[in-house]
Amino acid sequence: MRIDIITVLPELLKSPFEASILKRAINAGLVEVHFHNLRDYTTNNYKSIDDTQFGGGAGMVMMIEPIDKCISALKAERDYDEVIYMTPDGETLKQGIANQISLKENIIILCGHYKGVDQRVRDHFITREISIGDYVLSGGELGAAVLCDAVIRLIPGVLGNETSALTDSFQDNLLAPPIYTKPRDYKGWKVPELLFSGNLPEIEKWREEQAYLRTKERRPDLLDD
Ligand code: ADE
Repeated sequence: MRIDIITVLPELLKSPFEASILKRAINAGLVEVHFHNLRDYTTNNYKSIDDTQFGGGAGMVMMIEPIDKCISALKAERDYDEVIYMTPDGETLKQGIANQISLKENIIILCGHYKGVDQRVRDHFITREISIGDYVLSGGELGAAVLCDAVIRLIPGVLGNETSALTDSFQDNLLAPPIYTKPRDYKGWKVPELLFSGNLPEIEKWREEQAYLRTKERRPDLLDD
């Protein structure tokens, strides 16, 4: 998979890709992530990427021209499956969306700033608009990092244990059950005895029940879906 991220703040975005699972995925050649500074696609002397709103109103709007130049340069090199715009008014990111995107070969992610982008960018270049939640960030960069993390860990071979992404919370509309490790008894706080029984079907049944109970208590909305 190849991900091209268009941003005015590449430095803000780089560090999540330089550690842990994302770094390993990149080093293993399972994903390529490229950053494109929108200011490199400006034609004015000030390298400005935004301007005031037509019709008046507070806040700057990201201009179409540099975005067009950047996206067109990328599209001249290869085909893209999706051009995603990170925006608080997009569809809310869910596990199912991450699953879908993890199957794509090449995607572009455009990070918004200020008031957002000229509507014509959304009308003519963007194929999908994604929000990471009902709150407004200063820009789309952190949202793009969240999306990339959720997607990249699903690419086959990225997680050491292939089954572990499949048992994540949300993967089957249920939250994950409680988990325990050593020590067996910490200050009198004990691990459920069943987990030492060696009875794998019973343990699996217990985990399914716990996942259901936790979901019912914390996120009953997931059970309605
Ligand atoms: N840009 C600003 N707020 C955002 C959000 N909640 N999700 C994605 N991109 C954003």
